[in-house]
Amino acid sequence: MRAAAVKFGPALMAQAEALARFTADAPRITRTYLSREHKAAGEYLIGLMLEAGMQAGFDALGNIVGRYATADPAAPIVMTGSHQDSVRNAGKYDGLFGILSAIACVKDLHQRGKRLPFTLEVIGFGDEEGVRFAATLIGSKAMAGTFDPAWLIKTDADGISMAQALRDFGGDPDAVTSLDRRLSNVVAFVESHIEQGPVLLSEGLSLGVVTAIAGATRLKASVTGLAGHAGTVPMGQRQDALAAAAEMLLEVERYCEAHSAQGGLVGTVGILEARPGAANVIPQDVSFSVDVRSGDDAARHAAVAAFESTFAAIATRRRVRVETAAFYSADAAPCHPGLQAQLANAIAAQGCRVRHLPSGAGHDAMVFPPVCPTAMLFVRCGNNGISHHPDETMSAEDAETATRALLHFFEHFEPVRA
Ligand code: HGY
Ligand code: MN
Ligand code: MN
Repeated sequence: MRAAAVKFGPALMAQAEALARFTADAPRITRTYLSREHKAAGEYLIGLMLEAGMQAGFDALGNIVGRYATADPAAPIVMTGSHQDSVRNAGKYDGLFGILSAIACVKDLHQRGKRLPFTLEVIGFGDEEGVRFAATLIGSKAMAGTFDPAWLIKTDADGISMAQALRDFGGDPDAVTSLDRRLSNVVAFVESHIEQGPVLLSEGLSLGVVTAIAGATRLKASVTGLAGHAGTVPMGQRQDALAAAAEMLLEVERYCEAHSAQGGLVGTVGILEARPGAANVIPQDVSFSVDVRSGDDAARHAAVAAFESTFAAIATRRRVRVETAAFYSADAAPCHPGLQAQLANAIAAQGCRVRHLPSGAGHDAMVFPPVCPTAMLFVRCGNNGISHHPDETMSAEDAETATRALLHFFEHFEPVRA
């Protein structure tokens, strides 16, 4: 790293280390929406925002909102940021880097006494991963006007509703609509985020410009068979829900491998539960998740239809029942070409080669294209790009370069036609 010019990298890495301590299950990192850890991480980030010269606080949904206002109250707004919440047993940088790097940009502007010709809003979204309430992108969707009020009655594993958790957190479930930014003069949303993949690393690149964010559908499949004694029921007479589910999830893998050229189609079964869950009982009730993504929405919808028909055929042959229900769906989100060009200029100004690439991971940015021009800056991940895992890593050098590029983007930002 350029010794004389280091301004951001080491401090950002130290802040990520500090935030990693706000977890429900140390030494692992798990920070879910409206938890004590969310509150503590939010207070830490609000402290950094205030130190950077922003107005800052929690909004009604527990999002962490910092504003670096310009003198003109009628000036446009540029939004930036990412999510504070994590998956279970997460890494240190997913989401958080996008909040910390934006705060670092504002702090640098503030120290130079410089204001931008627009108000910069830095958001730490309360929930993007959907771990606690099986609803994702909660804060960003509220700001994009697509929050689903039915989420408020969803309950977590302890039976606590989102509305109750919000009130306990100090939020206000009745004030969700006040977060809607569609009536504000928001002219861009830009998110910086670790790539969570191996592309930049394999090409020796520090930064990338995201072209589009893959669309995703998440299904829950419930298979019902018939429990029985593991020792006495002949194989030909079984209605084994887990064996049926196993055939179904291998069908997800087979179909996605065969159609991977369609927008980079991928399919994952991440959760599998079998009941009664005894070694000597034939499983009767099995549920599993299917996460299917593609940059091509038609290919993703075709995959879901194919899963539903092949699951039904497998169930019939095995004399079990199967039901599938989607609990999440988001269309592929294009990044604005004009903002991509401005990010590319910012990357080139750091002396980096510009690389455009799609995002297989979902991000808060994906809900904003209907609201305003949207773009994403990717930063290289180490350890072969692993993410959603404690081995997720990035370098202080790349954190430095990315923050410099983001600051360059803000200082040279030109509104683009939606
Ligand atoms: O699942 C995703 O793509 C994101 O990390 N929530
Ligand atoms: Mn994630
Ligand atoms: Mn993320």
